[in-house]
Amino acid sequence: LTHEVRIDPLDRSTKCPAGQSILESCLRDDIWLPHSCTQGTCGSCKVRVLSGEVDHRDSSEYTLTPEERAAGIALGCQATPVSGLVLEPVEQVDADDGVPRHPLRDHTGTVVVLDDIARDIRRLVVELDEPMSFNPGQYAEIAVPGTGVARQYSMANPPSETTRLEFHVRRTPGGIATDGWMFAGLSVGERVELKGPLGDFGMPVAQEDPAILIAGGTGLAPLKSIVRHALAHDLAPELHLYHGGRSRQDLYDVEFFEELARQHPNFGYRPCLSEEDWDGANGLVTDVVLADFQSCRGLSAYLCGPPGMIEAGVKALKRRRMAPRKIHREEFLDAS
Ligand code: FAD
Ligand code: FES
Repeated sequence: LTHEVRIDPLDRSTKCPAGQSILESCLRDDIWLPHSCTQGTCGSCKVRVLSGEVDHRDSSEYTLTPEERAAGIALGCQATPVSGLVLEPVEQVDADDGVPRHPLRDHTGTVVVLDDIARDIRRLVVELDEPMSFNPGQYAEIAVPGTGVARQYSMANPPSETTRLEFHVRRTPGGIATDGWMFAGLSVGERVELKGPLGDFGMPVAQEDPAILIAGGTGLAPLKSIVRHALAHDLAPELHLYHGGRSRQDLYDVEFFEELARQHPNFGYRPCLSEEDWDGANGLVTDVVLADFQSCRGLSAYLCGPPGMIEAGVKALKRRRMAPRKIHREEFLDAS
């Protein structure tokens, strides 16, 4: 059973299979709709139902208020059609923004690297059977075998590497995907199932502003993809990468970024430690950025990591007069 879903302003339609979200059906049909988390927490995928009926499924009152529901708004990443639908995205879609879009696809692959690279952090590299096109900063959803659940992990490799996906995974105590699988039973040689690409974080096209990139923990993953892609294609005049951890045990890929900085005079790399004195930058990553930049006017920023770090980072950048629309962020929220 499928239902026809028409996206009014784009004049495009998709046949949405029963049980599939409106967003997923659109992305699989190469119809781009705004979205970020795909798990009902960010609210960026809201659509207005102009005609027809949806099942809101797990949409929480926190992301979709009862008033919004009553006004015919739905979360594209959660809602499924129960009849034919006509919709429009709440956030406007600029079809001519020059950003390449890639359809969502199912993939299979083999684990070729699974290394401990820092405290509670593993590098997972999956060799795909078929190439995946994506923008730097996007993520894939990896299925956890035998559980029926899937979790999001950002690609750390640049889009030029289409069949070898690198992920940085932090262990969540008690977590199904991490503690229960990637840090437990998973090993090199195993087959995995995933789908991608997803998300709208990143720097897919050239920009005139110098960029500050701020990572907490494995928030480094999408920023590594962005940095490698941006340097290879000369996308920004300057890139300043900050990576925050508590102590040296939390840092990884230090030599990789130091070497990149030696090769590219317009790329700066600052690892920051908040709980260990060392000869590098000391303090919370956002405080180090505050100390380094007296004004952020005319700059843009890309932040990725835990919600607390993002909140502190956005506050710091606004204090330094960065325009809010130039602050791009990806929060590693878990589904709980
Ligand atoms: P979960 O099982 O989801 O557990 C999450 C939390 O809930 C934990 O604190 C756990 O202790 C708690 N919990 C679990 N079960 C219960 C219960 N029954 N009762 C109470 N509490 C419970 N992470 C990365 O490391 N790298 C990335 O590149 C990355 N990219 C992401 C990109 C996006 C867009 C998003 C949204 C998230 C990303 N994440 C990333 C986070 C990742 O997707 C997972 O959320 C994370 O790995 C935890 O998954 P898990 O299954 O191990 O934990
Ligand atoms: Fe749907 Fe985040 S709530 S993409």
